[in-house]
Amino acid sequence: MNNPAELVVPRVQAAIATAFGEEFRQTDPVVRPSQFADIQINAAMALAKKAGLPPRDAAARIVDALNLDGICSSVEISGPGFINLSFDGTWIEELLNAESVQAASPATAVTPAATPQRVVVDYSSPNVAKEMHVGHLRTTVVGDSLVKVLEALGDTVIRQNHIGDWGTPFGMLIEHWLEIGEDSPEAALLVEDPSAFYQAARAKFDASATDEDGFATRARLRVVALQGGDQETFAVWQRLVAQSKRYFNAIYSTLGISLTDDHIAGESSYDAHLAQLCQELEERGLARISDGALCTFPAGFTGRDGQPLPLIIRKSDGGYGYGTTDLATIRYRVRDLAANRILYVVGAPQNVHLRMVMASARDAGWLPETVEAVHVQIGNVLGEDGKILKSRSGAPVKLMALLEEAVDRARAVIDASRPELSEAERAVTARQVGIGAVKYADLSTGHDTEYVFDFDRMLALSGNTGPYVQYAAARIRSILRKAGVLEGITGDGGRPAAGAAGTPAAGTPEAEASGGPATAIAVVEPAERALALHLLEFDATLNKVRDALEPHRLCGYLFELAQLFTTFYDQCPVLKAEESVRDSRLALCALALRRLSGGLELLGIETPENM
Ligand code: ARG
Repeated sequence: MNNPAELVVPRVQAAIATAFGEEFRQTDPVVRPSQFADIQINAAMALAKKAGLPPRDAAARIVDALNLDGICSSVEISGPGFINLSFDGTWIEELLNAESVQAASPATAVTPAATPQRVVVDYSSPNVAKEMHVGHLRTTVVGDSLVKVLEALGDTVIRQNHIGDWGTPFGMLIEHWLEIGEDSPEAALLVEDPSAFYQAARAKFDASATDEDGFATRARLRVVALQGGDQETFAVWQRLVAQSKRYFNAIYSTLGISLTDDHIAGESSYDAHLAQLCQELEERGLARISDGALCTFPAGFTGRDGQPLPLIIRKSDGGYGYGTTDLATIRYRVRDLAANRILYVVGAPQNVHLRMVMASARDAGWLPETVEAVHVQIGNVLGEDGKILKSRSGAPVKLMALLEEAVDRARAVIDASRPELSEAERAVTARQVGIGAVKYADLSTGHDTEYVFDFDRMLALSGNTGPYVQYAAARIRSILRKAGVLEGITGDGGRPAAGAAGTPAAGTPEAEASGGPATAIAVVEPAERALALHLLEFDATLNKVRDALEPHRLCGYLFELAQLFTTFYDQCPVLKAEESVRDSRLALCALALRRLSGGLELLGIETPENM
């Protein structure tokens, strides 16, 4: 931990204990940002009430007992009893130059969580033979960022891609696939345009609904065969799912998502357990028949009519549903995966369903109190009309086309602004900026709020956008390059590429970036100080993301970092400064770059070399 505000807390608590008695040691000092100093301590007011003292006297008692030698340069009581603290410049320098802060990658620059957890993260989870929609895009992007932050803080993360690969539509899909031929151009739609494939199967099904030995009938028999374990049908189903995985993987690779086939644990993988699960719940009196269906009625859920809401686990026709699979899933995650935290990064509309599953699992003892289960609700992505984003024709938007458009638009901007870059360089930057912009837009708004998908806004070079933050990082790269200390630094978080430009000389920011000896940063000017203090908040910010499961806090941090860097660069000459100042400022630039690119990395966003 290297965050000044957090480091001050135990000292304030010690002073409170001295002033008011040991029983007050655990008092929250109520640290807040201050207008007049670096931070203010607001605990005196509440303590004054308890001790029957005027608040300023209570503050004075705390200040008398406070030992902030070497930490604060000024301690002042203001207003009704605020204690304003200004950190000592030398202390800030000490913290900033510590090896743990200077470390290159986010994982080594943060203090691991005190109690690392085993976290199962359910995210992305698209459906076979269906288009991934923008909602899936968002759970994919938010989930992948959460996973990266948790891992950087030392948690063991188990990714689970709960794909929809089971259920009644598969009879229809398999029949259709067999009919058109697995190698036909129409079959290729499964990878290129899954919605079109699904629609074609659906249309055939609907058209033959009344035809006794037509397609619909064969489709129904096919489901029976599939669920009855028919070998041949099962093999066809496997091939069909494999095609869909190719489609998912194409999207993941375009987006730079860390999910692989190894993380797939689809609905089908729980099928063998559903009958026994229902039987167990029924026998234990935790589920009962209602209108022919077997249901649980977890406490606290009622419908509009005020009646208890059922979670159907076996339909009246004997089939199992989404709720049944999810109960088996949660049990598996606790029992077999040994999770102590389970995150469902899933669309907000599924909140009631998931909470009912969690409640039923708690009732059954499959989700003990020691295991936290959270629905990280993902808000809808809207079109400009304020409704769920659709294409002009009203069909679901093709995700791949959307991503391509983002890259094309970024390309047009880069072509115009940086014509001197090579064709290949512009292509790389356009991809990083276009994809980065889409991801950042998903990440920077609270995950549970809706937002309007707007290319112009997400690609803007000003405001809290991906391109703005990327631009700040690319600008620092260019400064370091001009100073002759960046040769060989690649896009992987600001570290030099091995062997790209020989071994960097010790003492340069480049050497520092690879963990070599660093030029000490001097913190003198107000803009340097503001930047330095913000850099020391990185750790605390990541911990907040972990606790609250809110990647938008990291976006906010990086946005502010980019702004503070811009102010610093406006006010403090770097390349033209006299040598020792120049070296210190270059080191500060290099550290800002590492935090920007390292932070972006945790959001799953690349940092362009040139922009
Ligand atoms: N496949 C589902 C959908 O597209 C999401 C699954 C979420 N995860 C879960 N365990 N229910 O809506």
